[in-house]
Amino acid sequence: MKEHFSEQQEHWTKHFEGYDVFQEAYPSYVRMMEAHVDALSDCQLILDSGAGTGNLTVRLLKSGRDVIAVDSNKDALKYLYDKCSNVDVLGTLETKQLDLSKPLPFADDIFDGIVSSLVIPFVSPHKEYFSENFRVLKPGGLFSISAAVPKEGAMDALMQDIGIKATESGILPEHKDVFNRMWETSRQNEKTILQNGLIADELVAMLEEVGFTDVTVSKEQPYDGYVVWITANKP
Ligand SMILES: C[S@@+](CC[C@H](N)C(=O)[O-])C[C@H]1O[C@@H](n2cnc3c(N)ncnc32)[C@H](O)[C@@H]1O
Repeated sequence: MKEHFSEQQEHWTKHFEGYDVFQEAYPSYVRMMEAHVDALSDCQLILDSGAGTGNLTVRLLKSGRDVIAVDSNKDALKYLYDKCSNVDVLGTLETKQLDLSKPLPFADDIFDGIVSSLVIPFVSPHKEYFSENFRVLKPGGLFSISAAVPKEGAMDALMQDIGIKATESGILPEHKDVFNRMWETSRQNEKTILQNGLIADELVAMLEEVGFTDVTVSKEQPYDGYVVWITANKP
């Protein structure tokens, strides 16, 4: 178990080496971040669940929201913290290293909003993950989720697209080695997504089962066809 945990740590640390450089040059990723921020515009205290390197957290803080950013990867959280400390942010930030497959260390009904971006296939069991998010969300709160959909070959196609944009913006070919390492970890991610990922209808059914209402699958596909974007309310 300990071995699996340290393998996971290494995996995400390697994946994040070039993550920000390449994702921030990929307009579809930026659009997805902005879509979450807009969806959460009425929420003051937000849980960024599986925050990674903090690309969402920093945008939320800049727009005056207070964020608790949680993730199991300590390198990502350090990177997130440094990134958010280096910009003029309006909101407050707290970070916590934790395992999202376990119960959350927060009281009931405290968050105005929760965002879960590109995390769901990696966290299981999904139903427990959703019911914990439901528990800590305030009545009237919003859950905004983008989840990678299981699709064979999706990561090769995505990395090709990311590569085209990175070449256009001059990041490639200089950072080719880092790019190739991210491609390798993305292929590993695809295996997990194929094993654990859920399609939109399954996600909707599970969210409704734990009590969410107004569960809406967006017709907009902010990250092209690679993810499904869903919003849900706690009544
Ligand atoms: C693809 S990244 C997404 C990062 C960020 N949300 C984004 O959209 O850029 C997935 C994140 O989920 C985190 N993660 C995976 N399994 C986890 C778990 N069991 N508990 C907490 N975080 C986890 C990883 O450390 C990683 O930061």
